[in-house]
Amino acid sequence: MKVLVLGSGGREHALAKKLAESRRVSRVFVCPGNAGIPETAGSGKIQRKGLFNSFSMSPPFAELTTWAKAEDIKLVVIGPEDYLSLGMADAFRQAGIPVFGHSQAATQLESSKLFAKKLMKKIGIPTAKYKEINSFEEGMKCIGEFSYSYGYPLVLKADGLCAGKGVILAHTPSEAEAALQVYYKEKRFGKAGQTVLVEEFLEGREVSVMALTDGTCLKLLPASEDHKRLLDDDRGPNTGGMGVYTPVAFLSDEDLVHLEKNVLMPVISEMQKMGLTLCGLLYAGFMKTSGGYKVLEFNVRFGDPETQCVLPLFEEDLFECMLLATRGELASLALKPNLAKENSSSLAAVTVVLASQGYPLNPITNRVILGVENVQDSEVFHAATGLNKEAKFVSSGGRVLSLTAKGANLQEARERVYADVKKIQFEGMQYRSDIALKGIET
Ligand SMILES: Nc1ncnc2c1ncn2[C@@H]1O[C@H](COP(=O)(O)OP(=O)(O)O)[C@@H](O)[C@H]1O
Ligand SMILES: [Mg+2]
Repeated sequence: MKVLVLGSGGREHALAKKLAESRRVSRVFVCPGNAGIPETAGSGKIQRKGLFNSFSMSPPFAELTTWAKAEDIKLVVIGPEDYLSLGMADAFRQAGIPVFGHSQAATQLESSKLFAKKLMKKIGIPTAKYKEINSFEEGMKCIGEFSYSYGYPLVLKADGLCAGKGVILAHTPSEAEAALQVYYKEKRFGKAGQTVLVEEFLEGREVSVMALTDGTCLKLLPASEDHKRLLDDDRGPNTGGMGVYTPVAFLSDEDLVHLEKNVLMPVISEMQKMGLTLCGLLYAGFMKTSGGYKVLEFNVRFGDPETQCVLPLFEEDLFECMLLATRGELASLALKPNLAKENSSSLAAVTVVLASQGYPLNPITNRVILGVENVQDSEVFHAATGLNKEAKFVSSGGRVLSLTAKGANLQEARERVYADVKKIQFEGMQYRSDIALKGIET
């Protein structure tokens, strides 16, 4: 059977590879994909679509759905949140093609942080205290009052989708004012930043939990910890994510069961009650605070790079799981919530992102990438890569590649992945050298 994966990053490369492992899958198309996605080795099932055939990625997605029907695609998997937010899943469903991805309406859970906050409040899910503001003046008043109650730092968040850049941490009144200027004077995030949430700052460790859902049932993937900051020791600017590891020792099995029962399940049930049945991936970002786990946000799609870390450990048939989800039959599948299988030699995984010089602000691209073929123990996922005239891989954006190695424990996975990272070179390549150290120390 043929599968179509939509998106162009490392996440989509990881999804395509895992889907291609299914014996029932004959071909995985990735659209628009990237230069490294067509598979010449391995299963040879993965093919890029969109390089030579530029589909319009805007609604109503008629070329895409027509092509998918003609090609007899049996499952569509949508990677990025903006595609979901534009109603791409709805377009495929209307065309009668099974799709693992939420409706435009259900995507509000991620595309409006205010929507998510209101939902959490309604059903009593612990999250940071917040206030909604809609103008600069309202914001100035609010930060005065809010800092009086909660002190600094304060967190300011654009309500809408901002590709992970809409959150500003303010340590002082003048930083808070400068943040308000960004949303309301400079209008950096346009409409997405016209409503802003002012939030209390939560202190603690972050952990990401991803689950497949059909709207009534959940199947959890292993929890992971992302490294958002550019530099070692969590210094430097925030990025899309510089590396991930799993398992996360501070999140016990009991914690995970608790979060599934008391956070994820109530959310999918409430969404269903509201007529916004989920079908796809649910991602919850938590902060483990001294007062227990609190939700930072929900995403409605696989994380990048969390997916590249977690999927290589996933031993089920992802195609089967996703197909069951599209039919509302996920309950028939018994997945273990964590992958602590006694007889498995791979219990841990570490992912390291290789980024361009100048990332995240102004990545310098078009640098020739050397050494990918020398990688031994890691899986390589392409993100921003292209091919030059000599058919050599070149960088074409901020986060270029990610590498994942598995191991019996984090230490082993870490050693393996860094041994391979050292084999890859491109001018100005940036990566963190401390991915997973946090997980080993605790
Ligand atoms: N209330 C908060 N307290 C402390 N840190 C926060 C808070 N909200 C967000 N953050 C930090 O900012 C990051 C981004 O915030 P998040 O709500 O996940 O938005 P997005 O991913 O859409 O940018 C989080 O991963 C976390 O590190
Ligand atoms: Mg986030």
